[in-house]
Amino acid sequence: MSEATARAFPNIALVKYWGKRDARLILPAAGSLSLTLDAFPTTTTVRLDPDAATDSFTLNGAPGAEVPTQRVTRFLDVVRELAGSTSHARVDSLSEIPTDAGLASSAAGFAALAVAASAAYGLDLDASALSRLARRGSGSAARSIVAGLAVWHAGDDAQSYAEGVDGPELRMVILTLDRSAKRVSSREAMVRTAATSPFYTGWVTSTASTLEEALAACRAGDFTALGLLTELHALRMHALIQSADPPIRYLKPASIAAFDRVEELRAAGLECYATADAGPNVVVIAKPDDAAQVADELAVLGEARVVGPGPGATLIADAVGPTRGAAG
Ligand code: DP6
Repeated sequence: MSEATARAFPNIALVKYWGKRDARLILPAAGSLSLTLDAFPTTTTVRLDPDAATDSFTLNGAPGAEVPTQRVTRFLDVVRELAGSTSHARVDSLSEIPTDAGLASSAAGFAALAVAASAAYGLDLDASALSRLARRGSGSAARSIVAGLAVWHAGDDAQSYAEGVDGPELRMVILTLDRSAKRVSSREAMVRTAATSPFYTGWVTSTASTLEEALAACRAGDFTALGLLTELHALRMHALIQSADPPIRYLKPASIAAFDRVEELRAAGLECYATADAGPNVVVIAKPDDAAQVADELAVLGEARVVGPGPGATLIADAVGPTRGAAG
């Protein structure tokens, strides 16, 4: 019986991933760019149990719900195939993402699971192989393997992994505006968008060029260019999602108000740019010296928390859940 524990942090995309060219391998239709955060980690322990008939999964001490448990099992199937193992496992996860913060938990969750499971099953994977593996759990998890700014390449299974890029120093203000659960998951909404939006092809081709421009802005250390591209790309993604049939709208009046407020702050000389994932909450990027002021200015709209670049997924010593002895 072997066990390993890993910790990983969520990431927020500046150039978004929305759409797959292969759903089984989770190959994205276009590349994307993100910042791995220094807050809200997920810590996961994987214990192999050759006597168990199935995998088991707990989240924050409680048995996992059916769909997440199925996703964990399907992910472990990929790991077992790589390792040539038939052993089931017990997976215990602690997520420090507040359930109502509107941050996707799947990126940190599958990045931590990829690192812990590959170690527990005795695989020796380098960073790009770990990123490719994490991708099989949730596309955005490929990027949480990497510290700070990460580009996730499109391409085939061998080419589609994330790696670090240098760029301007930045902070993110997480603005929590709406605490209700989203009605349509990203996974389902992506499929519907690709199948029904007349704009989907244009989105895929334009995202590839937006990513090239964003990477050029990173190389130049150009915060302004990166910020403008970030806001543009977020609004394009939401326009695309709204054009699905039946339409899906994640942004709420409060989200639009936040985008308006960010525009006003810029006009007043405080440089910041807004983005939003598949939900109503807004994330605002700012220069390190401006972040506290931006958060103060936005606090009238909702809870505003400044976060910065964080580490990639790593193995750690402290196990989650019962020890081997306590588990019997
Ligand atoms: C809007 O990575 O959660 O956050 O690959 O189906 O698990 P699956 O989707 P997921 O989608 C993230 C979508 C997004 C944009 C982004 O993070 O790039």
